[in-house]
Amino acid sequence: MATPIILFELLLALSILVALATDHSPLQDFCVADAKSQVLINGLACKDPKLAEANDFFFSGLHLEGNTSNAVGSMVTPVTVSQMPGLNTLGISMVRIDYAPWGINPPHTHPRASEILTVLEGHLEVGFVTSIPENRHITKVLKKGDVFVFPIGLIHYQRNVKSTNATAIAALSSQNPGVITIANSVFGCAPNIPSDILVRALQMDKNLVTHLQSIF
Ligand SMILES: *[C@@H]1O[C@H](CO)[C@@H](O)[C@H](O)[C@H]1NC(C)=O
Ligand SMILES: *[C@@H]1O[C@H](CO)[C@@H](O)[C@H](O)[C@H]1NC(C)=O
Repeated sequence: MATPIILFELLLALSILVALATDHSPLQDFCVADAKSQVLINGLACKDPKLAEANDFFFSGLHLEGNTSNAVGSMVTPVTVSQMPGLNTLGISMVRIDYAPWGINPPHTHPRASEILTVLEGHLEVGFVTSIPENRHITKVLKKGDVFVFPIGLIHYQRNVKSTNATAIAALSSQNPGVITIANSVFGCAPNIPSDILVRALQMDKNLVTHLQSIF
């Protein structure tokens, strides 16, 4: 009866493969992104390590409040490899998120990163949704100092639940986590997803689909 053991080993091997489905580990001390390189690789080409300097590993400005005067009432200030070339190949990045009173960070996913968020100021209602078939909604209200993790790939959101500003800092497990904001991707892509597809997929009135396409 070796079958259960083989099955177990297969599962173990698969879980190791899944664990590798994130940014690759560096094969050298660092690989500061070379902004001038024309080479297209997975990640960014390295500049000569001898030319690396402190500023490649540095970003200034996360003390500054983001401008939350927009339709959703939040602003994300990213520090990914685009802002800090030294993050190239390191598999991490971070963001500051500001929320106006009752502002939201709309439902979105990061295709390449888990996100661990800590509340610096205020109270945030946060949540994420598991995949099919459960589609379970896991949610909690956080206060200053609380930490919450959004697992890689899952749709998640935050809402400021007080009439004062809120601020959070989040770390992400990719140099380039990517963002797919659900409404913008579904209704705001170019060219549009044909509205009859959305009408049937979302069981939604055609006028409503057209309206949402005009907003996003
Ligand atoms: C914040 O953004 C709004 C809307 O884009 C703009 O009108 C306003 O000038 C900005 N405020 C600051 C302080 O930059
Ligand atoms: C709340 O945030 C807004 C927009 O960034 C800012 O103008 C305002 O001064 C903040 N209010 C407080 C009490 O910090």
